Amino acid sequence: MANGTRVLITGGAGFIGSALSKHLQTEGYEVHVLDDLSFGLRHLAGVPDERFHQVDIRDRDAVRTTFAAVKPTRVLHLAAVHFIPYCNQHPVEASEINILGTINVLDACERCGTVEQVFTASTAAVYPIADGAMDEAHATGPMDIYGITKLATEKLVSEFHLRTGITTIIGRFFNAFGPNETNPHLIPEIQKQVLAGVRELRLGNLDPKRDFIHTEDMSRAMSALLRTQVSGHDVFNIGRGIEYSVREIVEAFARQLGETLTITVDPARVRKVERMHLLADVAKLKRVTGWEPRWGIDEGVATLLNERILDRA
Ligand SMILES: NC(=O)c1ccc[n+]([C@@H]2O[C@H](COP(=O)([O-])OP(=O)(O)OC[C@H]3O[C@@H](n4cnc5c(N)ncnc54)[C@H](O)[C@@H]3O)[C@@H](O)[C@H]2O)c1
Repeated sequence: MANGTRVLITGGAGFIGSALSKHLQTEGYEVHVLDDLSFGLRHLAGVPDERFHQVDIRDRDAVRTTFAAVKPTRVLHLAAVHFIPYCNQHPVEASEINILGTINVLDACERCGTVEQVFTASTAAVYPIADGAMDEAHATGPMDIYGITKLATEKLVSEFHLRTGITTIIGRFFNAFGPNETNPHLIPEIQKQVLAGVRELRLGNLDPKRDFIHTEDMSRAMSALLRTQVSGHDVFNIGRGIEYSVREIVEAFARQLGETLTITVDPARVRKVERMHLLADVAKLKRVTGWEPRWGIDEGVATLLNERILDRA
């Protein structure tokens, strides 16, 4: 079906982008990756050197030159800085990469003249604190620098569509899990401690619940959106629609290990501002694309227990 369609993934050497790169190649897309390797790793991109472009999206000329050379018809813009505590501590850098970088990517999409559709990664962090599942019509209200930069990204993409007529899709990602995690999020932290032989885990807040979705299911969702005749500008939640607390994730690790895991709250890891719930309503994604998630927490955790932690040395 994809038949050699040329796609360019920004951030394709990262955690989600690398899963997406591999998935789209199995579907027959010609995948190019643009990444500055600040968080991603070259080998994760899964493309040959002639399709790998080490470029910083803050460098407008380099982004333009790359797009002009690649001439993609579809662009999936995932490059961003997104670890929430890091963004809060580095608001200028977060804005430069997530906002200015997005402006540069959109500018290159317009100039190169071949792009028919742009998918952009946003986040559940654009939503305000709420107890129940949120659909795409829910009011936005980010509560950290990261969410603010991503809401700005969404607005820039919408303005780009109005100005150019190029189809644009926003994917609001909920909490990704899977192999090759690049940021110190909850699941890789538990994985790291467990694989190091620790059975009394030291973790932060234990009660917040999150909607964890496997990167392979996210890739299938993005691929389904590429295939579906979405036109204009549209927004989709990309989550699983089920939420788990930190304790429940630890219980999944214990089940898969067949051992008991205990938890000690480490005050240094406790985030001062933390939402208790973050849950996606994914009815729209399912209705429009026919997508259904395949990976449960237990299957995902089982594969993580067999994974070697990324060697970043
Ligand atoms: N991981 C999650 O749970 C999650 C949740 C919501 C949204 N997202 C979004 O999904 C996207 C991918 O996130 P991820 O988890 O794969 O993170 P990641 O850090 O693994 O991937 C981001 C990639 O972008 C690259 N990058 C960063 N700055 C760059 C720059 N200036 N120029 C070029 N490349 C640059 C990094 O090297 C990395 O490979 C991001 O847009 C992120 O905001 C992720």
